[in-house]
Amino acid sequence: MEPFHYQNGQLYCENVPAAELAGRFGTPLFVYSQASILGTLRSLQAAFTAVDPLVCYSVKANSNLGILKIMAQHGSGFDVVSAGELYRVGLAGGEAGKTVFAGVGKTDDEIRAGLEAGVLMFNVESEAELAAVARVAAAVGKVAPIALRVNPDVDPKTHRYISTGKKESKFGMDIERAAKVAEAAVAIDSVRMIGMHMHIGSQITSTEPYAGAVAKGVELIDRLRKMGHPIAWYNMGGGYGINYRGHEARPVEEFARVIVPAVKAAGCRLAIEPGRVIAGNAGILLSRVLYTKQSGEKRFLIQDAAMNDLIRPALYESYHRIWPAVLPPGAAPAPEDSESPVAGTEPWDVVGPVCESGDFLAKDRPLPRLDTGDLLATFSAGAYGMVMASNYNTRPRAAEVLVDGPDARLVRRRETLEDLVRPELEIT
Ligand code: LLP
Repeated sequence: MEPFHYQNGQLYCENVPAAELAGRFGTPLFVYSQASILGTLRSLQAAFTAVDPLVCYSVKANSNLGILKIMAQHGSGFDVVSAGELYRVGLAGGEAGKTVFAGVGKTDDEIRAGLEAGVLMFNVESEAELAAVARVAAAVGKVAPIALRVNPDVDPKTHRYISTGKKESKFGMDIERAAKVAEAAVAIDSVRMIGMHMHIGSQITSTEPYAGAVAKGVELIDRLRKMGHPIAWYNMGGGYGINYRGHEARPVEEFARVIVPAVKAAGCRLAIEPGRVIAGNAGILLSRVLYTKQSGEKRFLIQDAAMNDLIRPALYESYHRIWPAVLPPGAAPAPEDSESPVAGTEPWDVVGPVCESGDFLAKDRPLPRLDTGDLLATFSAGAYGMVMASNYNTRPRAAEVLVDGPDARLVRRRETLEDLVRPELEIT
């Protein structure tokens, strides 16, 4: 059964009607399906099983402690990019020994936190960072396990803001520079290079960019080993795309068919850092229509979720399916494909209450007729939704609920106005 599905005119998350959740917890509300999250984790573990994979869930996609906890309980490792994310992993019971620490700008304090926790490895993105990791490790009397992040110069054919594997990107090192840095690293006692890391971008919907990248990785690993580095891990990052509009994503098995042979050829264990593919379609954002209004030919649906709750449409012009969570009489369930015309719809701009023209969830979106009080679902909102939310316009951030079969558990309460001003009131 699909985690989100319609039954008798009502949208359900697993066995719970969305309308019941909105009634109990209010709106805007993020709703996540535990079965969907764990199902994807299991299919990733199975697809890559031939290379003994460690799934390092990319915490940045959705860092809710409730989600991290179920991931840890089901054997997942983690990919963190800050001391804050590492702290969350610890609180959720995640193992540092299954955690990789990424990021182009790690501070000394963050490196120290990673060493103290005992992370599996640091993904090192520059020569200067290698020096910092070596210095901090020496100072605390430890040897830092590292992987060099290599930029294979392939075009992932995704939005330019989330493309990371091209030469001009700020991430990683090009192959020749990485080889030089590795040469120099041989003589550094306080680091041990055990891996090679690549992450070429996000929302990738073709296996081709991975095919181009993995071959370069195999070659580099061979060179690193010849220098004497004990490379045991091939970390291929994340990036697996999901269906936002229809059926644009490729199943993870197709990515595995490209990646597994290369990792085998390199004689390594595989680490992957999937974020969006695990959390994205496991979550929706529920909101309620406040007003409808017409201005010339334009129709606006003003509802209580805004760009501060889900910034992706404003920031990347990304498309999220939107459909009533309780169907008006005669309306069909949400169409599976954004391109298919649906009878009885009219184009609406779905906007929020924030004072910005960029505050929209959708433009000219065909929707059935809706009115004040109606409930809307914005789909594919589980990844890069709540984690990118802000308090702009002094709006409290939404609550989050994790559904498991018939049970719904509040995993983050709605912020109060007092929460928002507390750090300022503490100043005397
Ligand atoms: N590993 C590294 C080193 C990354 O930088 C990222 C994402 C991931 C793994 C996880 O990638 P995923 O499997 O989720 O594609 N806010 C943007 C996405 C930014 C992705 C940043 N890095 C969005 O909403 O589309």
